[in-house]
Amino acid sequence: MGGRIKVQGGRPLYGRAQVPPAKNSVLPLLAASVLCGSPAALLGPPRLSDVEDCLAILRAAGCQARWQGPNLLAGGPPSRCRLPQAQAGRMRASILFAAPVLARLGRVETWLPGGCRIGSRPVDWHLSALERMGARVCQVGQRLVLSAPSGLHGACLSLPGPSVGATETALLAGCAARGRTVVENAALEPEIFDLAQFLNRCGGCVEGAGTSRIVIEGGRRLHGTAYRPMPDRIFASTLACAVASARGRVTIAGCSPGLYAPVLDVLEQAGCWVLRGAGWASVGRAGPLRGVGLLETGVYPGLATDAAPLVAAALLSARGQTVLVDHVFEARFGCAGGFEAMGAAVSVRGRTLHIHEGRPLHGADVTAGDLRGGAALVVAALGARGSSRIAGREYIARGYGGLEEMLRSLGARIG
Ligand code: EPZ
Repeated sequence: MGGRIKVQGGRPLYGRAQVPPAKNSVLPLLAASVLCGSPAALLGPPRLSDVEDCLAILRAAGCQARWQGPNLLAGGPPSRCRLPQAQAGRMRASILFAAPVLARLGRVETWLPGGCRIGSRPVDWHLSALERMGARVCQVGQRLVLSAPSGLHGACLSLPGPSVGATETALLAGCAARGRTVVENAALEPEIFDLAQFLNRCGGCVEGAGTSRIVIEGGRRLHGTAYRPMPDRIFASTLACAVASARGRVTIAGCSPGLYAPVLDVLEQAGCWVLRGAGWASVGRAGPLRGVGLLETGVYPGLATDAAPLVAAALLSARGQTVLVDHVFEARFGCAGGFEAMGAAVSVRGRTLHIHEGRPLHGADVTAGDLRGGAALVVAALGARGSSRIAGREYIARGYGGLEEMLRSLGARIG
């Protein structure tokens, strides 16, 4: 999986691209499948290393986990409570398996999750939610052991911040717990709504997802269902930013433009043209772009933190300044060194990336250090003159299935 991505920049993109289902929806759905008495069928999920790692976790727990053509059959009752260190330790989403395995078996042994190097990413809010629901938590080094011999009970949870993952843990635990769970200060991201919809289709009772107060009636028997996860709004954002960087005109299909409206709005403000339809958007760029001043990320429906490096990559050669502040993670702009190597005039201070002035980009050898930062280097390379090699392909493979093929079909030279 390792290796480099080679990009010969300066070729405009034309055509139509279909957005795949969202990684950040599929991973929690796989965790949710542990709660189902019979396996669920996820329709058309992307083939990614993070998805394969979740399948390994499911198998280690004694659940079913296998591809059936383009679909995934996953879930069924777990029989083993020890989750594998290799997969749990390298992926943030592994913490989402703790609540369902704990709820079904009364115990789970897992590991502090790894993930992208974008700042400190504790799991204290996940753990304290589970403690409030009756779990005992024991942490020794990287090892986490949670037990709840008499099961979990419902609770009123007020999350310290609207964390996507902690909200998902609360939903999963709440569905399996006795009684009612109320989650205050819940995350509003659409992936939460997708998880709640899946749980309800499996026989659960989750109300209010998509608002900051979610109420779950627990203790219902869940069964598998066939479910198509929502489209990947960050994949769609990546395609939009790629067109803004490389020029051309692409129709991005299968994803409502409302799901990534802030990205489309910024690109429009910078001088791209954008057409929005039901489930599609067309993005085009012919002339030069202009900087957009101050941009800040925020929780949904604000500009997604995951999109921040991608938007930056699209604006590196825009005339005038852009300043991007990421309020979610401490070290979002690890890709700035790669931008500089391509000739961009950028600096990072704390959570802020400053694009001082637009400069034409040239190809360079750069290294991806995280998923979205790596994709941002690809986006920048598409708009640069000459060839680039992006090392750290394995980071990009965590979140993008078929990105290179898709870009090639739009006219990019990438491989
Ligand atoms: C999810 O991560 C996504 N990952 C991330 O996508 C995304 O960037 C993030 O949400 C924000 O939208 C998955 O869905 C698998 P958080 P998550 O909990 O759930 C702090 C990508 O590139 N916090 O909402 O881990 C935390 O440190 C990835 O696809 C605590 O302090 O994000 C952060 O500052 C990267 N304690 C903030 O909350 C906790 O227990 C938001 O994190 C939990 C979170």
